[in-house]
Amino acid sequence: MKIFFVTGNKGKLLEASELLGPLGHNVVQFAHNGVIPEFSEPQSEGIEEVAISKMEQALGMIPGEIDSDSAVIVEDAGLFIGSLGGFPGPYSSYVEDKLGLDGILRLMEGKTNRNAEYRAVVAFHHDGITHTFRGACEGSIGSEKRGDGGFGYDPIFIPRSSNGRTCAEMTASEKSVISHRGEALRKLLEFISLPST
Ligand code: IMP
Repeated sequence: MKIFFVTGNKGKLLEASELLGPLGHNVVQFAHNGVIPEFSEPQSEGIEEVAISKMEQALGMIPGEIDSDSAVIVEDAGLFIGSLGGFPGPYSSYVEDKLGLDGILRLMEGKTNRNAEYRAVVAFHHDGITHTFRGACEGSIGSEKRGDGGFGYDPIFIPRSSNGRTCAEMTASEKSVISHRGEALRKLLEFISLPST
């Protein structure tokens, strides 16, 4: 199957290709007239609504129906911090830009409950139907930035199963095994590997 991934993030594209490629799927970046489109994000409480809205915007750019050998994927993710009522959640990208990781560390000063969770939703459109798959990675917010790998909040996010390392101190493949995005993509993989009835 040819799978068009709606993303401007090459790291996400690579992660999806690494998982879906070995099964014979060809993951390519979604482009419209040669340009990677930027979509508006609804001010929403949930990343699922954001993923579905971006999917609708992407499908609106494709004239007619896509053939049954092709599919479209959209993924939306965020960091949800327990003691901040789930903030920044669906606003993770905006908050990373405006407050930065140092801003989050300042908001967390003096907090004993540092539990947090990365969440991801992958929306998959095939044969006229959009299916969604969720993934989560539980962990906590560190007291300082550590590591050079990954992206976004990785230098301050310590997954529960990482022996105290931040995501930025893990290799890409170590992160993919436990990550929210990896979990959602593996569920998608399971779904498309099922024999069709
Ligand atoms: P997106 O809208 O799915 O690209 O993700 C929104 C924001 O969530 C990103 O810009 C990052 O700030 C944050 N985020 C999502 N996934 C990750 C991750 O795996 N590591 C670090 N930050 C992430």
